[in-house]
Amino acid sequence: MNAQIPRTFQVKSFGCQMNVYDGERMAELLEAEGLDAAADGVDADLVVLNTCHIREKAAEKVYSDIGRLVRRDGPPPMIAVAGCVAQAEGAEIVRRAPGVDIVVGPQAYHNLPELVRKAARGEGALDTDMPLLSKFGALPARRRQGPSAFLTVQEGCDKFCTYCVVPYTRGAEVSRPFAAIVDEAKALIDAGAKEITLLGQNVNAWRDAEGRGLDILIRALDALPGLARIRYTTSHPMDMDESLIRAHAEVGKLMPYLHLPVQSGSDRVLKAMNRSHDAATYLRILGRVRAARPDIAISGDFIVGFPGETEEDFEATLQLVEAVNYAQAFSFKYSPRPGTPAAEMEDQISAELMDERLQRLQALLNAQQLAFNQASVGRRTEILLERPGRKPGQKVGKTPWLQSVHLETEAAIGEIVEVELLSAGPNSLAGAELVKEAA
Ligand code: 5AD
Ligand code: SF4
Repeated sequence: MNAQIPRTFQVKSFGCQMNVYDGERMAELLEAEGLDAAADGVDADLVVLNTCHIREKAAEKVYSDIGRLVRRDGPPPMIAVAGCVAQAEGAEIVRRAPGVDIVVGPQAYHNLPELVRKAARGEGALDTDMPLLSKFGALPARRRQGPSAFLTVQEGCDKFCTYCVVPYTRGAEVSRPFAAIVDEAKALIDAGAKEITLLGQNVNAWRDAEGRGLDILIRALDALPGLARIRYTTSHPMDMDESLIRAHAEVGKLMPYLHLPVQSGSDRVLKAMNRSHDAATYLRILGRVRAARPDIAISGDFIVGFPGETEEDFEATLQLVEAVNYAQAFSFKYSPRPGTPAAEMEDQISAELMDERLQRLQALLNAQQLAFNQASVGRRTEILLERPGRKPGQKVGKTPWLQSVHLETEAAIGEIVEVELLSAGPNSLAGAELVKEAA
């Protein structure tokens, strides 16, 4: 417990990009209230743990983090638990971790300043409401966040995959209004953003009151001067409609990268997951996407060891991976989550079998990722410089296909430079800047 109005803060975000976005917005909110971000390595008066509930390991992490904060030298900070664990386990956190002063869910964090004042008065400060009016209207304007910025356009999920907590932690699917998104994009560009990634748990289900879909929003952003690159994530295969696919052929600033999770290659498992598509449908959709944009990099998410998954089911996943040839992918062991239907299913898979399958899947995905990077060697392309590298003079940027490239350059962070890709590893490439001939 800490009964003083804090002067400095730190926000620690875990989990998905939407959590990173929420963390940035909480920081902006606290700064607007007159608090200062604590300098690196300096203890903050207020620590916001912006948590993730997607798998058990992520969710349990919050309790060890709280323990560490409570035991730190000097007075303990005011602790706020935000994010999806706060939403899912609010009351339990208060019971299990008496050092926590504030619990605030992902749809309620616009109330954080009020909760801080309450906590400083020693009052209980728990807010996991999901108000009808969205938090976005109550947040301050965007500030500088670097050349690549996130922008949440859609939140929540109505799909109810049987393994997933998101419909419970983030609530029902809600799309933000068109004008509010375009205004936020302009503010981000004014603050220095060159690239905007539109975020949503089901971003391609974005649709406004007038029936406009994500493709129209992407085309509106394409028209904004100063913006160079547009990306969007995460998409559901069944919301990958023809107009969005066409945008990949027609919109110059839309980058050739698509994150389209499939989770499994077995139709039986996909059905048990309530995914509403089979493996063949997924492959057909990717075929259409690739016809529109032949060089597109495909990325995906996989779960191994879903309840009842047989060796045959798992091999169907490997076959699908072979058929797709991913540029990048994320794979996880199934983690039973409280309140989800799959947690109650019979035939839960043993930890050993899950480990073995994850290793086999990751070996294949890693080989595909390396091959994708190696196939880029010799290519000339544009890199958006995003951060300094480890060596002096070195900077790190991204290709249109979202590969990280290390290079020596005098150009500033935020600039786009022409490079030739020289060599490739599994996670990044090295490049050399192409110097323009003097006129
Ligand atoms: N267990 C393991 N992985 C999960 N994911 C979602 N829920 C679970 C779970 N219960 C994975 C999915 C999703 C990604 C964000 O996390 O692959 O696409
Ligand atoms: Fe984690 Fe999902 Fe919440 Fe993102 S939306 S923080 S992945 S539980």
